[in-house]
Parts: sequence; structure tokens; C-alpha cells
Amino acid sequence: MCKNSVSCSRREFCQKMSLAALTAGAAACGLESCSTRLDEKFSTTTIDITQPAYSVLQQPTGIAYIEANLAIVYCASATVYYAFSSICTHAGCQLSIPASGFLPADGIITCGCHNAEFSTQGQVLKGPAQRNLTKYYPVLSGHALMISTTPLNADTGTSKS
Ligand code: FES
Repeated sequence: MCKNSVSCSRREFCQKMSLAALTAGAAACGLESCSTRLDEKFSTTTIDITQPAYSVLQQPTGIAYIEANLAIVYCASATVYYAFSSICTHAGCQLSIPASGFLPADGIITCGCHNAEFSTQGQVLKGPAQRNLTKYYPVLSGHALMISTTPLNADTGTSKS
């Protein structure tokens, strides 16, 4: 047993240093930067909101995954959409959306891992998450909803053209 540095064997010392290095590596990664790497799997994508997988997005409170569930799109009204990462900023769990495809009236998205809550714009409402979800930028043109990881216009939502 290694109770202090003097009594540590070389093997025990190495084991302790390896654990410390792993811990430091995890801290250096940072939850946000790890999540960001997942988010970087797409830069711009376009969905057709008349397709069955996305048809809920034609109605207010409709919510759907896009990009292999890495992102979420929310229909706030017939003219305003929000999009954000589906990866919780606390410890990286994937946020769940209702099977019905519509958020309840409270408009809260709850992380199933530790119960952090986010708004329909991806803002933290309740911890343990400390950071908002990574925001994306939707623009609707007809039935085509383009979502980008970089701003396409100055608005948070978008208007039908
Ligand atoms: S991972 Fe979401 S609250 Fe902990």
C-alpha cells in the first residue's frame, strides 16, 4: 500500500502518475470541446419539412432530430425555427425529444442523465449544465430548411420566404 511518497514502490508511483495523467487529459478535453467535436460532423444541411421524418416541423412546438440525432430543430411558429446541438453541455449525454414530435406546453427539454433543463432556444434553464447548447442557424425557403453551424443571417429564427 502506498501511503506516502516515501513508501511508494516504483510500480505504485507509476500507477498513481498514470491515473493523474488520465484525469488531467479528461479535464483538458473539457466537456464543451468534446461536444464541439461531435457537432463538427456537419457544417450545413438542408431538410425538406414535408418529408415524414420532419413533417412535425410544419407546426408550432414540433421538434425533430437532424444529422443522425446530433442536432435538434424546433418550430416556434410558422415563421420561426431554432436549431441547436442535441449534446448536453454537462457531461455529453444526448438529449431526448418526445416521441410524439411535439414539446409539451412548458417548452422545456430535459436531459435524462442529470436533469438539466434547456429552453427551446438551447439556453440553460436549470443545472447541472452550465453552458447553453451549441446554437445553429436555420433558414427556411419554401419547404427547404437549411441549418448551418455558422450564421446565415442576423436573426436567431428565420422567416418563410
Ligand atoms: S449530461 Fe445532461 S445533465 Fe448531465
